[in-house]
Amino acid sequence: MESEAKKVVLTCVQPTGRLHLGNYLGAVKNWSELIGTHECYFGIVDMHAITIPYVPADLRKNVYECAAQYVACGLDPEKSSIFLQSSVVGHAELTWILSCICPVGNLERMTQFKDKARRHASSGICSGLLFYPVLMAADILIYNADMVPVGQDQKQHMELARDLAQKFNSVYSDTFKIPEASIPKAGARVMSLQSPDSKMSKSDSNQNGTLYITDSPDVLRKKIMSAVTDSGGEVRAAADKPGITNLMNIYSATTGKSFELIESEFSGKGYGEFKKAVAEAVVERLKPVREKYEEVVADKAYIESFLKRGTEAAQRRASRIMSKVRRKVGFLDLR
Ligand code: TYM
Repeated sequence: MESEAKKVVLTCVQPTGRLHLGNYLGAVKNWSELIGTHECYFGIVDMHAITIPYVPADLRKNVYECAAQYVACGLDPEKSSIFLQSSVVGHAELTWILSCICPVGNLERMTQFKDKARRHASSGICSGLLFYPVLMAADILIYNADMVPVGQDQKQHMELARDLAQKFNSVYSDTFKIPEASIPKAGARVMSLQSPDSKMSKSDSNQNGTLYITDSPDVLRKKIMSAVTDSGGEVRAAADKPGITNLMNIYSATTGKSFELIESEFSGKGYGEFKKAVAEAVVERLKPVREKYEEVVADKAYIESFLKRGTEAAQRRASRIMSKVRRKVGFLDLR
């Protein structure tokens, strides 16, 4: 019997470049609060990162940087397992097994697939991009995770992971827990500063819309001060004020203040004053993150040591669950 004293948390980031404020507020910042009370596995999903055109040397560098950013954002590698997906045997195998119970139509309907397929149409769409959500489901189920903290954009992928867990259990008998998505109230969907109707993203063609956690204070201030705002001058959250609502969301997630409090704090004051306050809150919040990042990223040996330790711990758990899965699906074990 496995020891299940603590609930298992699993979540991951793609090593496709620097983390932005959306990744931080919607995801990584909240994860550190779960360490201690939960058994935490934080993955760096390099196998997902090869589903769109990429450069292998950049991928290797991005893995180190992603690991350093994890630690800089507060993930303690002594108290949690930070692992590299491609080094844990079983993720690809479980993906294959799950793909054999996953209707292809469910994958073709995924918003993120359709969006990425459109953006990368000129370089050709690989089947890995279509199977991306099945690999994500395998990432979660191979650890029998109870909880998966993610931003709003991963909701549809999480529903598929739950459906596949339920389907596997009904076809092959009870095996997987049905994982719960945990989506934060504030910061779950940080939008681009330049086009607040689309989410903040590393691949935004206008990089002024994306705040990176390692941007210098000057760059952060400049990007926030030039953020697109809306007509009228009132600091108020509303559907027809996407620019200001996004800045309020950022301010709320960095300071912990509610929308009501923000509206009363800036009542009668203009957008300029509000933007300055947002910029200072973000700069203040990210200062220690940036400093810690510079320190950790310079120490490659340290990064390798905690990644190795975390990957070994992840492998131990994954192997236990995979041997059960293999048995259930009828594979002989001749190794
Ligand atoms: P990725 O690398 O795109 O994003 C990592 C995390 O950041 C969140 N996020 C955002 N939150 C708020 N506002 C935004 N603008 C924003 N952009 C990104 C994402 O929701 C995510 O939590 N498919 C996943 C990686 C993955 C995964 C997993 C996650 C692979 N396997 C298993 C959880 C469990 C992704 O693309 O993350």
